[in-house]
Amino acid sequence: MSEFKKLVFSGVQPTGNLHLGNYLGAIRKFVALQDGNDCIYCVVDMHALTAQLVHDDLRGQIRSIAAAFIASGIDPVKNIVFNQSAVPQHAELAWIFNCVARIGWMNRMTQFKDKAGKDREQASLGLYAYPSLMAADILVYRGTHVPVGDDQKQHLELARDIAMKFNLDYAEHIRKAGYGIDITVGEEPVHAYFPMVEPLIDGPAPRVMSLRDGSKKMSKSDPSDLSRINLMDDADAISKKIRKAKTDPDGLPSEIDGLKGRPEADNLVGIYAALADKTKIDVLAEFGGQQFSVFKPALVDLAVNTLSPITGEMRRLMEDTSHIDAILKDGGERARARAEVTMNEVRDIVGFLG
Ligand code: TYM
Repeated sequence: MSEFKKLVFSGVQPTGNLHLGNYLGAIRKFVALQDGNDCIYCVVDMHALTAQLVHDDLRGQIRSIAAAFIASGIDPVKNIVFNQSAVPQHAELAWIFNCVARIGWMNRMTQFKDKAGKDREQASLGLYAYPSLMAADILVYRGTHVPVGDDQKQHLELARDIAMKFNLDYAEHIRKAGYGIDITVGEEPVHAYFPMVEPLIDGPAPRVMSLRDGSKKMSKSDPSDLSRINLMDDADAISKKIRKAKTDPDGLPSEIDGLKGRPEADNLVGIYAALADKTKIDVLAEFGGQQFSVFKPALVDLAVNTLSPITGEMRRLMEDTSHIDAILKDGGERARARAEVTMNEVRDIVGFLG
């Protein structure tokens, strides 16, 4: 038995402003993972067309996500930073995966149901097939580890199902061509061409909630700007949003169990912990017994001190976009070369000529 070479892959959509949920659930983890790992971070611009076809400034949005990656500390030389449409092999593999995935699997995707809303007949075919393209994004590099927020868990389970079905259906072809390695999935030995991707979701803020309603995810599409902290917010806006964040009348508990049934308190403690690189237990050891009137100003200071250097650097990078464009171009070339190695083998496995 052997193992696939570890490769970290993740992506962020260039739709709307990045917020604290994107930063804590994803980008901050991307930064931490670059130490000692081979990492590829992608601005998934093709995904941006699935929910909304026409965008006023898609290029600007793509650049601003890349700027957020760089401003947060991702090294684009050591890692690969690029935009998805620069590597057409993603779409090519996605087509094959569309033929691997079953309609029944797609019908279970809760994010499609949420995004399509009531009038599902009017949703784009791209939105429906979205998770298949997402699987291709990762597997075209034979990616093994994927840092994401909790909302992407089901999509990554689907990526595993697609990889497994491809491996099993094409087992003979994979063996004959001399590709793939022997792995175990659960108890079962499998000769695999594609790895079983592992989601990296854990951490104190896998699902950052709205500041106005602890039962709703912090999201780009929430009509209330007070519900989220945007990465481009200035210190005043951050302070105002945290001061106005919904809480309950009690102070902070000293034990983690005391956060049960208190989603707003739990959310703010999780945000503090993630920003400070601590656990929620550490935060409660420090603030247990204190009122929100003490905790919120400490959270404002921490959020402003952490986010304002990133915001400042993003603004600077966006003033002259030639640097960002050069990073994306270089990343696109390196990503394309790697994706083509996989696609050459996949074409061979499937039986295409050429
Ligand atoms: P996207 O662009 O919606 O979000 C980018 C990342 O931010 C995370 N996230 C959150 N984490 C915690 N709390 C929140 N409130 C919150 N909101 C968003 C998301 O989980 C995600 O990690 N389908 C993906 C993009 C994608 C992708 C991929 C990801 C396309 N291909 C391949 C990984 C691998 C998406 O729409 O993310």
